[in-house]
Amino acid sequence: MTSNEAKFREVSLLLEGRGVELDLHRTEYPEIQADRLEDVVDAALGWLAAVYGDELVVDDSGLFVRGLAGFPGVYSSYVYRTLGCEGILRLLEGIPDRGATFQTVLGLRKGGENHLFEGKVEGTIAQESRGSEGFGFDPIFVPEGTSHTFAQMTRAEKNAISHRSRAAAALAGHLTRRGEAR
Ligand code: IMP
Repeated sequence: MTSNEAKFREVSLLLEGRGVELDLHRTEYPEIQADRLEDVVDAALGWLAAVYGDELVVDDSGLFVRGLAGFPGVYSSYVYRTLGCEGILRLLEGIPDRGATFQTVLGLRKGGENHLFEGKVEGTIAQESRGSEGFGFDPIFVPEGTSHTFAQMTRAEKNAISHRSRAAAALAGHLTRRGEAR
């Protein structure tokens, strides 16, 4: 399963319960170079609206490692493909601060407007990869309050606390206030 499908399943599971159905589109689109996920998502919505029209949701996420000055952050996708989890572990060798934040920004295009919803989870980078569930950096990220990595959790356990579920809850809250979700 690609991380696209995994992200789609996580978000759609959360929104389904609120009466919102999503379809997955596989499209390559140019990602702008920016320091913040919010700016990347805002630009992506503009591009994708030109192709798919209104009623779109875009997810962009990143792992911000404190001891690496926020790297890989907005470059997480490239860094995952090139260095992978092992590369992050190597970069952190000898660095005592293993604190990290996972962030998701979900962008909603509706009524010709962009709306952005953010979710974060604090945690630490494990000493070694652990677990086989999930995707991406899940095997090295230990969310606050547990000793397990995301990859050692079921999807439901990850969803209960994840950056993506927090962003999805904010998106669902917005739709509920507008009478478009339960
Ligand atoms: P993007 O949102 O697909 O650009 O994600 C950036 C990178 O972070 C990709 O390599 C993903 O595999 C990884 N990533 C995104 N969300 C998660 C997550 O929830 N857990 C672990 N890795 C993630």
